[in-house]
Amino acid sequence: MPIKHLISVKDLSREFLDSLFITAKDMEEHPEKYSSNARGKILATLFFEPSTRTRLSFESAMFRLGGNVLGFSSPKGTSVEKGESLADTIRMAQAYADIIVLRHYVEGSARVASMISEVPVISGGTGSQEHPTQAILDLYTIWKSCGKLTGLKVAIVGDLRYGRTVPSLSFALAKYPGNKIYFVAPKQLRVRKEVLHDLKGKIEYEEKENLEEVIGEVDVAYITRVQKERFPDPQEYVKVKDTYIITPELIEKSKEDFILLHPLPRVGEITYEVDNMPQAKYFEQAKNGVYARMAILDYFLNKANNE
Ligand code: CP
Repeated sequence: MPIKHLISVKDLSREFLDSLFITAKDMEEHPEKYSSNARGKILATLFFEPSTRTRLSFESAMFRLGGNVLGFSSPKGTSVEKGESLADTIRMAQAYADIIVLRHYVEGSARVASMISEVPVISGGTGSQEHPTQAILDLYTIWKSCGKLTGLKVAIVGDLRYGRTVPSLSFALAKYPGNKIYFVAPKQLRVRKEVLHDLKGKIEYEEKENLEEVIGEVDVAYITRVQKERFPDPQEYVKVKDTYIITPELIEKSKEDFILLHPLPRVGEITYEVDNMPQAKYFEQAKNGVYARMAILDYFLNKANNE
């Protein structure tokens, strides 16, 4: 069945993901082959929350495919300020564009948008719920760096309660056999029960508090920012914000071929001295977002209707 919208990693098959990675790699190596794939098409980027990477890499991807972009980076200055509903904003965007990327703070908003829109809706991050295109670029980076997506031990570290990249990456890793996730977080930021429920029986996982316990064992550590903006009580944020700080000394304890990822932005979880270490892959990861999102746009603009 062709996929009409990209809302949750749970909706995607391993075959679909693999085919995106192969396309993304070819786009990275031979961009000229794809420079007209979106000619005459328009992407609408509707961002109700701040973004640097997701919005700009989607825009870069669309331009590299020969398409055009319109949209907003904040609801400020749009008719949302006059009280326009999300549903009506989507009805307008689908009239002006061929595909929509939506980032919104309300859980379920991307799914609702997909039920209204006649053009494909891609979630660019939905509350604390999911960030599916981030998981696609995360896996693309792991595949390129580790040469495989199976039999890996991955530590997902930090704010596992509010970080939306965490469920998406976990669901994606669960599609490949032999992987194991260590969820490393302080008690207050443990991964949500509904996420664990969805992973049960699909992937082996363990919950930990001490990163040092697993750093020597894992192939990948995926550090996340503590999401200050989602804490109901600012005092609770202060208590946990510096729980994990990645330093060169910690990286030295990792195994050979270990890689360090972060969806970014970082706000102190990784010291600047780590940036030049060969294990630090987070800026390359962000760049990979362009190729992964080119492959995603190409699928929804050109392939989904022909399957
Ligand atoms: N990783 C990520 O979603 O970054 P932005 O918030 O800058 O888009």
